[in-house]
Order: sequence, then structure tokens, then C-alpha cells
Amino acid sequence: MFKKIELEKNNNFQLESLEVGLTSQCNFHCEYCCAYHKNDKAVLTGDQVIEIIRQIPTLKRLKLSGGEVLLYFADCLKIIAYCAEKGIKTQINSNGSLLDQEQLGLLRQNGLDTLHISLNFTNAQEHDAYYKMGLSVFAKIIDNITEGVRQNLNLMVETILFETTEKRITELYNYIYALGVRHMELQYGISIDHSGWNKTIFKEKVNLMITEIINCKKPDSLVYFSCLDLADYPTFREQEEELKKQGIFFPRCIEGKKQLHLHSNGDILICELGYPVVLDNLFANPGAFVDIYSNKMPEKLTDFISQHPCRKNAW
Ligand SMILES: C[S@@+](CC[C@H](N)C(=O)[O-])C[C@H]1O[C@@H](n2cnc3c(N)ncnc32)[C@H](O)[C@@H]1O
Ligand code: SF4
Repeated sequence: MFKKIELEKNNNFQLESLEVGLTSQCNFHCEYCCAYHKNDKAVLTGDQVIEIIRQIPTLKRLKLSGGEVLLYFADCLKIIAYCAEKGIKTQINSNGSLLDQEQLGLLRQNGLDTLHISLNFTNAQEHDAYYKMGLSVFAKIIDNITEGVRQNLNLMVETILFETTEKRITELYNYIYALGVRHMELQYGISIDHSGWNKTIFKEKVNLMITEIINCKKPDSLVYFSCLDLADYPTFREQEEELKKQGIFFPRCIEGKKQLHLHSNGDILICELGYPVVLDNLFANPGAFVDIYSNKMPEKLTDFISQHPCRKNAW
């Protein structure tokens, strides 16, 4: 699981992990969506991504995210097979609605390391009322999660901590556990400047949600809370080592230090979700990934690393 990497303490800045926004296109229209340049129709092909990866000898992990990258299944498969051959770990982030049994098998056979599916509801009616995607879409996502578990894929389900999930976090945990999923990511809902979405929740409520999870969590599952700085949660900071033993983790942010985001138009961002600041453009400057971590590291990146301005969103 990629999340384990973020538990390591390391201040050695080098590009080990790349998140590729193959496309911003999507079959969903989530109001909270953080995707950069959402209306951009550009798509990176599998061959283009492979060529980019070839130029990054330090790369250990590749995450395909978007948009909904499984709109371009054949390209994803090609990239995964190439990475598996080169020993680069891969993850796909998906809304889980476009897969089927055969495709899940192909992802596994071609060496996908982690399939990461988003889920914020426990029944078709509420899912449809929120996303307006039709009642059958929820069943499709659940079928794919169940089938992924059956096929022994490394499956992580991600839930956003925000106004909508606040009242049902225990219910969501139990539901996801009952599907057979043993890895859950709880991602703090980040306000999105470019869309104006701001249904985030404040520290007190996050505290309550963490407490609920501690109380309901089963011993054989692992839970990762993302984008929460424990400095803001002293009670849990004191308990961090104990919580780790219980399988509850607060991973450190690796954005900008080990990981960058590449958008399909060539823009290289520090973090698409929390800090979508453009450092360079790979098509305008093919040496950008080398330049960013050279002596002349861009000021935007050194500022980010020293100040973590995205944390202003955290409460
Ligand atoms: C942009 S989506 C792309 C992958 C895929 N389409 C999906 O929804 O899973 C990547 C992840 O970011 C999460 N996400 C989107 N907007 C967010 C926000 N404002 N705050 C926190 N997480 C967000 C989604 O729930 C999803 O798990
Ligand atoms: S499914 Fe993912 S990419 Fe699509 S709109 Fe929702 S969050 Fe954005």
C-alpha cells in the first residue's frame, strides 16, 4: 500500500512517486472534486506516460489519478504492465463505477499493486441523491469492490471527512469492512479554491470522527487519516504510537518532497488536492523533473516545504 511509504521519516528530496492525471475527464460530477483544469480534454496516452517514466530513474511508485482514468483502460493497463516489468509500484485511483470482473482480472494479472476506490455512502438511494448518477451505479461500485476483494487485489477504499460523511462515519467503516475491505483511507475534505467548494469540517468535528473510528475499528483492518497534521490534534499525537499498534495511522505529507503531480497538459504541480501550484511544464521543459530537484529548486517548492501553506485549509 502506498500509504505505508508516508509513514517513513525522510527529508531526502527526490522524485520517487509521481501522480499522473492521465485525464481530467470523468463520468461523475462530484461537487467537492479537486481535479485540476476539470474541463481540460487533454489525455496522456500510455506510450507518452511510459516515455516520461523512462526519463525518471529515481521513480519507485506511480499513481494514476484524474479525472476518471479508467475511461482509458487500455492505456492504464499498458502503463501498469510496463511499471511491473521495471519494478515500479502502481496504484489506480477510481470512482469504481466503470470496471467489470474481466478488467479487474486484467489489472491483477498485469501487476497492479493497489486499487483505490472512493466511497462516501452506504446505500443506493443516498448515493444517487448526492451524485445524481442513477440508482444502479452504487450497485456497480459495490460489485467491483466485492469482486476486487474476491480476486485478492490490494484494495483501499477512501472516504472523505466532510459535512456529508460526518454523521455516518461509523456506519461507513462497518459497511466497508463488511465488504471485505481491510484498508481504509479517511481523507480530510479540503476546500477547493478554484470551484469554491467549502463543505469542510472543523477540528472539533474531526476529533469526534477520529474518536468514533478508534471506537469502532476492528483489529484486522488498517485505517489511514490523510492530510491531518497531528500538531493540530494533541490528544492523538500523544497516543500516536499506541494508535499505530491498533492499525490507525496519520501519514506524513510527502507532496513536493518525494511526490509531484503531472497533469495531462504537461503542468507539474506540487499537490493537486491541497496545493495545486504549477512548478513547471514538462512539454515546455523536458528536463523539468531534473531541474525541480536540482540546486535551483523552485522557490514555490522551497516555500511550500518550509511553510506548508495548504494546512491553512485544515481548520
Ligand atoms: C480527484 S479523485 C480522482 C480519482 C477518482 N475519480 C475518484 O474519485 O476516486 C481522487 C480522490 O480525491 C478525493 N477528493 C476529491 N476532491 C476532494 C476534496 N475536495 N477533498 C478531499 N478529497 C477529495 C476523491 O474522493 C478521490 O478519492
Ligand atoms: S469521481 Fe473523482 S474525478 Fe470524478 S468528479 Fe468525482 S472526485 Fe472528481
